[in-house]
Parts: sequence; C-alpha cells; structure tokens
Amino acid sequence: MSSPTKLPAWQALQAHQQELKNKNMLTLFKQDKNRVEDFSCTGALWTLDFSKNRATQQTISLLIQLAKEAGITKSINAMFNGTPINNTENRAVLHTALRASHKKESILVDGNNVLNEVRNTLKKMHAFVDQITTGAWKGYTNKTITDVVSIGIGGSYLGPKVVKEALTPYAQAGLNVHFVANIDGSDIAEKLKLVNPETTLFLISSKSFGTLETLYNANAARQWFIEQGGEEKSIHKHFAAVSSNVDKAVAFGIAQENIFPMWDWVGGRYSLWSAIGLPIALSVGMENFYQLLDGAYQMDQHFQTAELEKNLPVIMGVLGVWYSDFFDSQSHALIPYDHYLRALPAHIQQLDMESNGKSVLLDGSPVTTTTGPVIWGGAGTNGQHAYHQLLHQGSRFIPVDFIAPLKTHNPIADHHAQLFANCVSQSQALMVGKTLEQAKNELEQSGLDSEEVEKLAPHKVIQGNRPSNTLLTEKMTPASVGALIALYEHKTFVQGTIWGINSFDQWGVELGKVLGTDIYNRLTEETDNRDLDESTQNLIRIFRK
Ligand code: F6P
Repeated sequence: MSSPTKLPAWQALQAHQQELKNKNMLTLFKQDKNRVEDFSCTGALWTLDFSKNRATQQTISLLIQLAKEAGITKSINAMFNGTPINNTENRAVLHTALRASHKKESILVDGNNVLNEVRNTLKKMHAFVDQITTGAWKGYTNKTITDVVSIGIGGSYLGPKVVKEALTPYAQAGLNVHFVANIDGSDIAEKLKLVNPETTLFLISSKSFGTLETLYNANAARQWFIEQGGEEKSIHKHFAAVSSNVDKAVAFGIAQENIFPMWDWVGGRYSLWSAIGLPIALSVGMENFYQLLDGAYQMDQHFQTAELEKNLPVIMGVLGVWYSDFFDSQSHALIPYDHYLRALPAHIQQLDMESNGKSVLLDGSPVTTTTGPVIWGGAGTNGQHAYHQLLHQGSRFIPVDFIAPLKTHNPIADHHAQLFANCVSQSQALMVGKTLEQAKNELEQSGLDSEEVEKLAPHKVIQGNRPSNTLLTEKMTPASVGALIALYEHKTFVQGTIWGINSFDQWGVELGKVLGTDIYNRLTEETDNRDLDESTQNLIRIFRK
C-alpha cells in the first residue's frame, strides 16, 4: 500500500473539506431530520452516536470510499487469516486468534494451526487459576497464595492492569493482584511492603524476557524472596512466567511447567487476550476471562461483517483520519464516564501511539500524510475540573470520544443519572458553544451594567462546533469491556491501513534502549564522555557528583 494522498477519494475529500469547514454542526442537524439515526451504528454490545461530527452523509461516503480505495476489506481479511502483514518482522498479526479458539477450528501460520496452541494455553491458564483461587497451590510453608505480583511493562502491564481495574466489580474475594512495571525501585518497593513471601506468587510477564525493567524487577523479587526466608528450591512454588522465550525464562529459574507460552504473531500491545492476561483471569476468574474474550470476538465478527457505513471501528477510524489530515487535529481525547474504566486511555495510548506513531510507509518511503495522533484523556466527570476548559475554550481542535454505560454497578442515590447527564452535556456544550450575543444576554440578565457586560462577555464565549463521538453500552461487563478494547484495536488498524503504514512493529523504541545501556555504563564507571553532546556530558557529571 502506498500513500493515500493520490487516491481519488483523498482528492475529493480535500475539495469537500473546503466547503464543509465553515459549516456549523447545528446546521447539519437542521438539514437532515434523520441525522441521529443516519449517524449511529450498533454492534457487539456498543452503540456509536457519531452525529456530533463535522461531517455530512457526503463526508461519510467519501471517507468510506477512501477506506475502500486504500484496500480496507482486503487488509481486514489478510489480518484475520494470518497473512504476515507485519512486513518488517515478517510476522502474522493474530491477536484475533486469541479470542477465536472456541469459535473456529483452525487458523494456519506456516502450516501450523495456532488455535490448538491457544486452546492448550487457555486450558493451562484455567488449571493454574483454579489451583491458585481454590487454595490448592501451596507456598513453601504450605500456605495458600493470597497475593499475585505481576511484573511486566508496556503491553505486558497496561492491558492486564487496565482491564483488571475495569472489571473490579467481578473480582473474586481472597486474592490480591498487584502490578510492578517501572525500573524505579519505588514501584517494586511499595508493592513488596504489601505482601508476605510465604503467600505470594510472582508472575513475570515478558514476551521477549529481555526487557531491562522486567528483568531487574524479577531479580529484585527473587532476591527479596530469598532474603525473606524463601529458598532456591522453593522458587517454583512462587514464580511463574509468561513469555515467548521459554529458554530465557528457564534460565532465570522458572520451572518449565510454570511457563505460559505466547507467540510472535501477537504484538505486546495486543496481548492481554493471551496468558499475559493472567492477572485479569486470576482477579475475576476464568469464566469472566472467557467472557472478555467473547466480547472481543463479537467485535471481531462485527468488524469483518458489518457494512462499512455502519461498522464501528471503520467509522471511528475514518473520522480520526478526517480530523488528523483535514482539520489538523494533533490529539484525540478518550473520556470514559466510568470510574472503573478511568485508566483506559493509558492502554489505548500504547495501543494507538505505539502502533501508528510512524513516519514511513510499508515500503520504507516517507509518509505524505499525518499518522497516529497523541492519545490522552481520563475519567469523566473528573476531567471537567481539570482539562475540559481547554477543550471548550482552548485554541486547539481536539476530537473527543465519550464512553459511558447506561447502568452502574453501584446505584447510589442518583449519582449515575448525574454522571450520565454530565457526559451528554459535555458533548453537547462542545457542539453548541455560547455566542457573544448569548454571553451578553446572560450577563445583562445577571444585572451587570453595560460596561461590565462589554468587558466580560468575550471571556464567556465558547466557540462550539467541536466534534465528539459518544459510545454507549448497557453495562461495563467482561464482554462489553472486551468488545470496547477490540473496537479500539481495529480502529487503530483501519487508520494504519489508510495511512499505508505498518501498525505492528515498534522500531522507534530501540534507540533509547541502546543509548540507555551506554549512559548507564558512563554513570557507573569512570569514562571519557567527550564524545557525547555537552548536555548529556553535563547530566552525567551532575549524577556522578
Ligand atoms: O519496548 C517496547 C515494548 O517492546 C512494547 O512493545 C512491549 O509491550 C514492552 O516493550 C514489553 O516487552 P516484553 O513483553 O517483551 O517485556
């Protein structure tokens, strides 16, 4: 796939944007009485209201045309059937296989049916989770496990942590699941204060088993275990691992039977559905983990079968391209109006930004479009008291996804109605804004004299015409959370396909790692650093003092 800027639909969109850019969304509602129905779609437990967008039916059909011209249907089929679309690592991209193993017979990678390995691993996970949660698994003093500490970073941390938190209402009593990610010793130090070596199991999650932070923390955990009275011969009772590099895990001292496999056709940021998701399964039980997989599977089916005009990942994907390439949006905000889902943006950040933060096309030539936006956000209503000011009156054009359940897990007074009212009204305020006229009238009504009204009114103007999507589901359950994350996985894929980039490698993180090793050596040894830039030399000097 080359750059899309030569495609007929791209050219048409450029012209179309010229006529649309000064149109107010409120006018679009007046012009199409069926706008809400025309700009809504439902699939896999979610409903998307995309009517508050800077788009007409013509816009949507041109954007869908662009996706078609970019080969979206062919690309979707290629991904799902295991074609090595990750072309720089010559790998298939089959996180979707992780949730299909109970629904499909086979998916072949190099002649090998990967679904057998997925099914076997799920079985192994199930047995492990049962052993831990029923108390059958005993530590070195014959006590049951009360705490699991998952050691991992990036995709080996964010997905599991965010989903485990999102599914707090489904947590099984009696087992605490903790996460350690950062090489900052404070991370593991704080967690080790909470646990007892006799009743703790460490789960080392690392696809490569070569990530500096994870190895440092795994060694620190083992050191702590021994210092606290554990013995080398008991390591197998308190350490397990998830990795595609079994040899390294065994070399670390993990018993072979405690190693859960993962595969190179699953990217780290797409791996929570694999044994990397063990912290989720340990927290909410295997049945709920299967529900999570099923929700994602439902979204996979929707993505593959729904007509493009009513396809949630496709619509969200093409609207993101529309704003990034034709409205110069630099970022995209995710605002879940759900306390348990408050960390969702952190996972979608890695999913989207590590996938589409690229600058070359599949053939290595420079892109001629934008690529992945900055993803940020946080729970509503909290954001309303933090950064919504910028969304409403700032100088930047930032599209927003509002995400909300219709029902709460905790019906206290009318909190949920208030929460939902805020979600809807924030989306409404971004669109309708407040004119200078309205601001003046309000101030006059409040009794200010005309001079004060003239002075203050401009500060109260809200530009409006700022777009947002609203995603609704009945309730945040394992299935709907699974479907939501799969939705964003596929949205990311739609955008990468249109931009013509490889969304599945991450070469950009290599340089930092290599330089980090060199700097570490210069911090810890007497070295001549005059080959370095002055800033780095100075920072090393300050640290070494
Ligand atoms: O350095 C980036 C990265 O490779 C991510 O893609 C990955 O999720 C993370 O580091 C952790 O990698 P691993 O699971 O191999 O420890």
